[in-house]
Amino acid sequence: MKSYLTHLECTACGATYSAEEAHRVCLACGKVLYARYDLVRARRALRRHLLATRPSTMWRYFEVMPVRQARNVVSLGEGMTPLIPARNLGAQLGCPRLFIKDEGGNPTGTFKARGLSAAVSKAKELGIASLAMPSAGNAAGALAAYCAHGGMKARVFMPKDAPLANQQECSAFGAQVTLVEGLIGDAGRLSREQAAQHGLFDVSTLQEPYRVEGKKTLGYELAEQLGWRTPDVIVYPTGGGTGIVGIWKAFQEMVELGWLEQATTRMVVVQAEGCAPIVRAFHQGAYLAEPWVGAHTIAAGIRVPSAIGDYLILQALRESGGAAVAVSDQDILREIQTMASTEGIFPCPEGAATLAGLRRLLKEGAIDPSGTIVLMNTGAAYKYLDTLARPRNQAGG
Ligand SMILES: Cc1ncc(COP(=O)(O)O)c(C=O)c1O
Ligand SMILES: [Zn+2]
Repeated sequence: MKSYLTHLECTACGATYSAEEAHRVCLACGKVLYARYDLVRARRALRRHLLATRPSTMWRYFEVMPVRQARNVVSLGEGMTPLIPARNLGAQLGCPRLFIKDEGGNPTGTFKARGLSAAVSKAKELGIASLAMPSAGNAAGALAAYCAHGGMKARVFMPKDAPLANQQECSAFGAQVTLVEGLIGDAGRLSREQAAQHGLFDVSTLQEPYRVEGKKTLGYELAEQLGWRTPDVIVYPTGGGTGIVGIWKAFQEMVELGWLEQATTRMVVVQAEGCAPIVRAFHQGAYLAEPWVGAHTIAAGIRVPSAIGDYLILQALRESGGAAVAVSDQDILREIQTMASTEGIFPCPEGAATLAGLRRLLKEGAIDPSGTIVLMNTGAAYKYLDTLARPRNQAGG
């Protein structure tokens, strides 16, 4: 197996960079860098049917992953999570082809494992031994786990009200943990400052090029699991947006690989009413999203007031003819119960938000109920037991 990685390319100004050295954002314009591949050659080397014999992890797509040497892959078995037909919920909603992509079974219990497995592996390959990151919580847990497995050091910065599970797992994995007064943006400033001072490599969302490469495997998997078709609708709980832009990137790559004729999926962003910068920008027809003031929601992972990849998320929404919707914490809490009791899947608040968003869009007639619809449950509720036990008026406060 060989990776067909060729270079890094700025998603805004098109500047290119070597993929054999460490880069974060574009040096010319400060925007997001994407890994690019020789998809013409990859198309000849990797036929879809060869995947059947590959391991059941996200590294099965090695040719379009950024690590050159398989020995540098730091893996705990992430990816190839089940795509579960949600028949009971579907019957209730009048959606006969409703699925839940359940990411709760990933190492550390969320889809963050994908991005961090990719970023930590590539950092290892580039000879970087110490990583730093700000996080709402789940990404910190994943970074800490992969650094432990790869024999590397992790330093994480989280808001002081991050879920207890995240604080405990980070300590258990041996990461150096700093709890920050404020939100993820405040944690980000401190992380970058400390990284610069102590020679650590900062792997903030979309401020290094490889986490999105891990997240994009969600798109490859969905197509593979649906028999090389993409769903009609994907409903995604959006914070920094790595997952949604990663899935959209995967679909474009698969068209170039000849694995898909075209990607006709409508991408749907769900955010919380207390923090909905992308939803607001989408409805205003803006190219960038203004930072959200006074962000609050119990869904910690989507409490992201400002995203560096805002233009990429908005682009994916527009190119796909998608939609964007904000839901209340009350709806999120109710939908946790609904998804759990109808399907046996106990979703994280962010995952439950997708159900609330779907219900809203169906009511508005914005989604065709007869299509193949995928709700992205990005993690397990087990990581939020303290949040869920808190009285409602304090939750996420
Ligand atoms: C459980 C969960 N869902 C969704 C998100 C948002 O993910 P993204 O950055 O891909 O928008 C996060 C991010 O922290 C998360 O932890
Ligand atoms: Zn640029």
